[in-house]
Amino acid sequence: MSGFSNCILPRHIIDGIKAGSFKNITVLTGAGISTGAGIPDFRSPGGMYDTLRPELITATETQRRQMKHDPTQVVFFDLFRENQFPYLEVRRPFIMGTAEKKWKATLSHFFLRLLHDKGLLRRLYTQNIDGLDFQLDLPEQKVVHVHGTIGTASCEFCSAPYPAEEFREAVRTSIKNIYDQNDCEAPRESKNILCKRCRTPGVKPDTVMYGRNLPASFFTNCDKDFPQCSDLLIVIGTSLTVSPANSLVERISKEAPRIVVNTLPVGEELGLDYGSNSSRDFLLSGESDQVLFDLCIELGWVDDMCAFSDQMAPQSQQILHNYSARTQTNQSPPS
Ligand code: OAD
Repeated sequence: MSGFSNCILPRHIIDGIKAGSFKNITVLTGAGISTGAGIPDFRSPGGMYDTLRPELITATETQRRQMKHDPTQVVFFDLFRENQFPYLEVRRPFIMGTAEKKWKATLSHFFLRLLHDKGLLRRLYTQNIDGLDFQLDLPEQKVVHVHGTIGTASCEFCSAPYPAEEFREAVRTSIKNIYDQNDCEAPRESKNILCKRCRTPGVKPDTVMYGRNLPASFFTNCDKDFPQCSDLLIVIGTSLTVSPANSLVERISKEAPRIVVNTLPVGEELGLDYGSNSSRDFLLSGESDQVLFDLCIELGWVDDMCAFSDQMAPQSQQILHNYSARTQTNQSPPS
């Protein structure tokens, strides 16, 4: 079987996972785990920050200059306090898309489900707000939404909840579509969405903005999971640029291996060492779906993974189809 796999993890780690020697695997995910579902990440070419066009956003010239200079400003509380439209206009397609269940979890997401099913997952820390991890049906206490979720909404100023359905409808009818000016469902100009309690326009999805506190569950679970309790860290599809989520790579015990799945070598400034002498850090370089499927082949988990095929994003399903076509060709008798 492993003849079809390009997995370069050392044998003792693969055998350790297979034999259940790592019983407390902790996973940190970022936007790269969802790109296979069709959701762009933040910092790659074509990502949210790369494609930001401040000139289309409802804002003052000074605010536009700030966003041009530093696109992350759209998710800063300081800007949101002054003007709520940059955040809501940039996030509009994402708010509408998640409400319409436009995206399906990827093969990489289902790898986490397999870890859980096999009793190996200690915790998933996800920086993603897309909610695709909810499609895995993991127990609530297993998942920490480090940067909140786009699935519910409340007032950023007074914390009053805002009904999710009503919020989506308000976004549809009150916030202009800066990505598609021919969208006839969207208004030409954005209008405020007022909090039902404090009557300020602070209503937004329950995501964490820069300059605001992370959920308490991040810190309480970190205290439980690190340094000793986690015995293996798998980091998937994150640039590891944002603190404190990126601190997991430093919090874990020095004995625990760290596997990074990414198209680029990330986190070297945090002490990850992919050099040939490193016995602890491993970069599995490539698209996470393919890389993790190769790992499944090595682990003998292909059938387990295929069982989720119907629930996966089309691009992930294609990997399973390609594999099954290759194995069938190989098994057919020579003519
Ligand atoms: P980034 O956009 O910073 O990083 C995504 C990473 O995933 C990059 O390192 C890519 O190389 C990698 N990547 C993309 N597609 C991939 C694929 N198919 N397979 C493997 N790797 C892939 O996204 P995050 O690290 O998640 O915070 O960003 C962290 C935080 O920064 C976000 O939660 C958000 C943002 O500002 C807030 O909004 C508070």
